[in-house]
Order: sequence, then structure tokens, then C-alpha cells
Amino acid sequence: MSIALIVGTRPQIIKSTPVIKEALKQRLPLQIVHTGQHYDKALSQIFFEELSAPEPFVNLDVGSGSHVFQTAEIMLRLEKYLVTEKPSLVLVPGDTNSALAGALASVKLGFPVAHIESGARCYDMEMAEEVNRRLIDHCSKILFAPTKHCKENLLSEKVLGEVYLVGDTMFDVFLSSQQEAEKSKVIDELNLKNQDFAVLTTHRAENVDDPLKLRAMFDAIENADMTVIFPVHPRTQNRLRESGIVLGDSNIRPINPIGYIEMLSLLKHSKIVFTDSGGLQKEAFWSKVPCLTLREKTEWNELVEMGVSFVTGVDSTKIVNATKYVNNNYSDLKTRFASNPFGDGKASERIVKVLVETIG
Ligand code: UD1
Repeated sequence: MSIALIVGTRPQIIKSTPVIKEALKQRLPLQIVHTGQHYDKALSQIFFEELSAPEPFVNLDVGSGSHVFQTAEIMLRLEKYLVTEKPSLVLVPGDTNSALAGALASVKLGFPVAHIESGARCYDMEMAEEVNRRLIDHCSKILFAPTKHCKENLLSEKVLGEVYLVGDTMFDVFLSSQQEAEKSKVIDELNLKNQDFAVLTTHRAENVDDPLKLRAMFDAIENADMTVIFPVHPRTQNRLRESGIVLGDSNIRPINPIGYIEMLSLLKHSKIVFTDSGGLQKEAFWSKVPCLTLREKTEWNELVEMGVSFVTGVDSTKIVNATKYVNNNYSDLKTRFASNPFGDGKASERIVKVLVETIG
């Protein structure tokens, strides 16, 4: 009797590590299956090392490709694993192609699915992740919602599985990594001063695959009157190279992708975050840093309602205005981080307890 945990991408590894550790603690047999969607050390291995997670039981080595290829190929490769190992339950975190393929392959073979980070919705079906998470939620037997909003979304969609409000495992790992983040030297290494710089990440196809959009976004962010540290995702690196965009003497400083601990340290010392990532919006919030969300819609509306996250898309005027607003209202903004809709840092404990009770 064991549980298969399907991971494949950077954010999935991060949000799964506290669950893996809790499973070890509660002696829940768990096999990690890495799909190989992310294969660069900087997007995969580094997080296992930094967060001291055990090596995956198996790596399916699927690699990059179109969404259809990736999803179908992961399903095919997973079938072999599932048929051989016959897990009691399959656990899928998040909304990536690896998570969708994991959920679909499992239900088609008759294995029950449990979904971590269930119920997040941005109501934009052009986003691959929105399609993925809706499909996963509707074929899962157990749904672990990170916030009240997420639970309400699931109930209003009348999902058939059992919904548990547990909190966010990303907050668990954020909290437990604080001491390590304190020791990080990244601020000195990059020669930065506290609260005197911004952090930028962008990797979504809809933003980076269009060179005109990408250039307009950089132009708007260059208006922020401060250094902007920009760890560049490999996909974005490829697009920058292909489109000939050079950030040369601008205030945007591209750097190679960084580890989780370094990112936490950067966030903690930054003044403002620009991102199109789902996870970074939350990590900025927990670091008490205002965030400009470079997307048309967000699944973390809790943060918009609290007035700490601003949805600007890649519209130059909105980015410039929101940046000005943040700068002009900084001390007021800093008072808006008092409550936390993402739980108490014990989501993983609750998840593993439910899993133990389920598989007996
Ligand atoms: C995926 C997830 C996204 C998540 C992101 C985190 C889906 C639909 N998207 O997007 O939700 O926020 O991971 O990073 O699953 N590449 C490398 N090395 C790697 C992996 C990718 O160079 O190890 C490059 C390849 O050119 C690849 C491109 O990045 O084609 C995109 O990778 P992919 O996994 O398809 O999507 P992400 O943009 O990373």
C-alpha cells in the first residue's frame, strides 16, 4: 500500500516537499514520480537538494514539447509505472501538465486521485493552468483546498470528491525555510541594498512568446526608479535570444534562475515584485512585499481584495500607474499584510492525516 506523488516542475517540487517530509514523519509510504517536464538542474534538482527531499523513485524523462505531446507522453509513460506499482492513491499538486497527465492517467486506470492546491480559479480558459486545474478537480476523489475562496469555488462547481480546507503547502515550506533564507548571501553577492530593488519574473507563454509584448513590458518596468533583479526562466531566455531583445544598460538586471532559498531572501529584502507566476504572488505576500501581477487575471484574488496585489497584465500604463501607487502609498500598503488567507503552516500535516485515514 503506497501513495504515488506526481511532480514534474519547479513549483510542484517546492509545494510537495513539506508533504513528503510529513509523510516520512507519519510513516506514510510515498513514492515520488518525476515526470521530467523540468529537467535543468536549476529548475528541478536544486530544489530537492535545498529542501532535503528524497530522490524520486522514478523519472519518466518526458522533457519539453507541445502541451499535447507533454500531456499525452506523460500519460503513456505513467501508465507503465501505475500498472506495475498499483498505488492505493495518486497525489497530484498544482495545475501543470504533469499534474493533469497524472490525474487523467490515474482515473482512467481506476486509481483514486487527490489534488493539492485544489479550487484555485482565475476564470481565464486561455490559460493552460486554468484548464488543467478544472479538469483535475473534477476527476479527483479528494480535494485539498488552500483557502476559503478555493473551497467555495469547488462547492459552487459541485465537484463530486470530498473537499478539505487545509491551508497552503507553499506557506508551510515558506515558513520552515525562513532560517535558511536568513543565512543566504545573495543580497551581498548581487550588491543590493535592503528595500532598494525590485524582483521580476516572467515565463508565461502569453507574455514571453510575443516579442512586442515582452519589449513593452520591459519598457514599463524600466520606469520603476530602482534596480530590478530578473532571474530568467529558460523559456524566457530562449525568447529573448530569438527576438534579439537586449536589456543592456537598463535598470533591469537579468540573472540565471536561482534556488528557492535565494529567492526567499531576495523577496524579503525587495521593495516590489513584478511577476506572472502564481506561486510568487503568494511568496511576495508572505514576505510582506506588494506585487504587480503581470497577467490579465489571477487565481489569488484574496490578495487583490486585500489591496496588496495589483493585476496589471502587460499594459504599460497600468504597470507604470501601479508602480507609482505602490511607491506613493508604501507605508499604508505595509499595514495591509496583517491576515493570512493561506492557513497556519500546517497544511501538510492535515493532508497526510487525511491520506493516512484514506488508505488505512
Ligand atoms: C510550467 C507550467 C507552469 C509553471 C512553470 C514553472 C504547464 C502548462 N506550465 O511552465 O504552470 O508555472 O512550469 O516554471 O505545465 N525548459 C528548459 N529546461 C527545463 C524545462 C523547460 O529549458 O528544465 C524550457 C524549454 O524550452 C521548454 C520551455 O522551457 O519548452 C517551457 O517549459 P514547460 O515545462 O513546457 O513550461 P513552463 O513555461 O516551464
